[in-house]
Amino acid sequence: MKPITVVVHGAMGKMGKTVIGAVCQEPETKLVGAVDIQATGDSLLLPDGSGDIPLSSDLDSLLSAQKPDLMIDFSVAKAAMPAIRIAAKRKINIVSGTTGFSSAEVDEMKKLSDSNGIGIIWASNFAIGAIVMMHLSSIAAKYFDYAEIIELHHNMKMDAPSGTALSTAKSMAAARGKPFNRPPLEKGETLPSRGLQTEGISIHSVRLPGFLAHQEVIFGAAGQTLTIRHDTIDRDCFMPGVILATKAVIKRRGLTVGLAPILGLEG
Ligand SMILES: NC(=O)c1ccc[n+]([C@@H]2O[C@H](COP(=O)([O-])OP(=O)(O)OC[C@H]3O[C@@H](n4cnc5c(N)ncnc54)[C@H](O)[C@@H]3O)[C@@H](O)[C@H]2O)c1
Repeated sequence: MKPITVVVHGAMGKMGKTVIGAVCQEPETKLVGAVDIQATGDSLLLPDGSGDIPLSSDLDSLLSAQKPDLMIDFSVAKAAMPAIRIAAKRKINIVSGTTGFSSAEVDEMKKLSDSNGIGIIWASNFAIGAIVMMHLSSIAAKYFDYAEIIELHHNMKMDAPSGTALSTAKSMAAARGKPFNRPPLEKGETLPSRGLQTEGISIHSVRLPGFLAHQEVIFGAAGQTLTIRHDTIDRDCFMPGVILATKAVIKRRGLTVGLAPILGLEG
């Protein structure tokens, strides 16, 4: 079978380098180019010693020359949206894990995928364990009236709360069909120490060196608690999800948000 040809955008970053390693190891995929604004030189040595691939800071020229089946993007939202527009115009399928898109940009991704007849998978979390944690939290949500989320990340993470924590809270409330009951505060609803209120759930964000990405969803009821926790201890945890999306996106048209539909965990 012909391998799926891949260009990585954001190739010199932490995730980009890990993706390059994973795509090299996967027999069904073949890396044919790498793009990064920090690119120096015009070739990149592959980590498995199998040779080198074209490297560029000019995405459009590289896509035009290499004509890949797919672009995998892990960069920054400011750079990712122009890259998605360029790849979509060239009818190249896209897997993006970049975070920080606005809802208008996600809407634009949908329009770009529909109008160009391509598949786009955008997931803010490619760790399969995290998707299962969110799914289990939605199941548990129907049986509890109180819940809080603690998300813990490395100190370089700039946004808070994490997109995963917000999505978890939203899907938990959607599963119940109503917000959770947040215990009332004597002094009103403004104490920062009680976390950010979303759907009646307090979200607490910890940022410390030593953590990578972790989330704990705690449900409470009279005389009992239930805790569902996921820990990411290495960036490799994202790679099975990225490879899964890579194989899925070339068979799917339109925009798919998140990995849950690909894992059959919707609803
Ligand atoms: N979806 C997930 O599961 C998941 C997991 C981890 C990180 N992320 C997200 O992936 C993104 C990348 O994370 P990271 O830790 O690798 O960051 P990073 O800063 O290490 O890498 C970002 C890369 O993008 C490149 N870049 C910036 N502007 C560019 C441009 N205009 N053109 C081309 N390249 C450009 C940078 O030079 C850098 O090499 C972030 O948005 C992060 O939140 C997502």
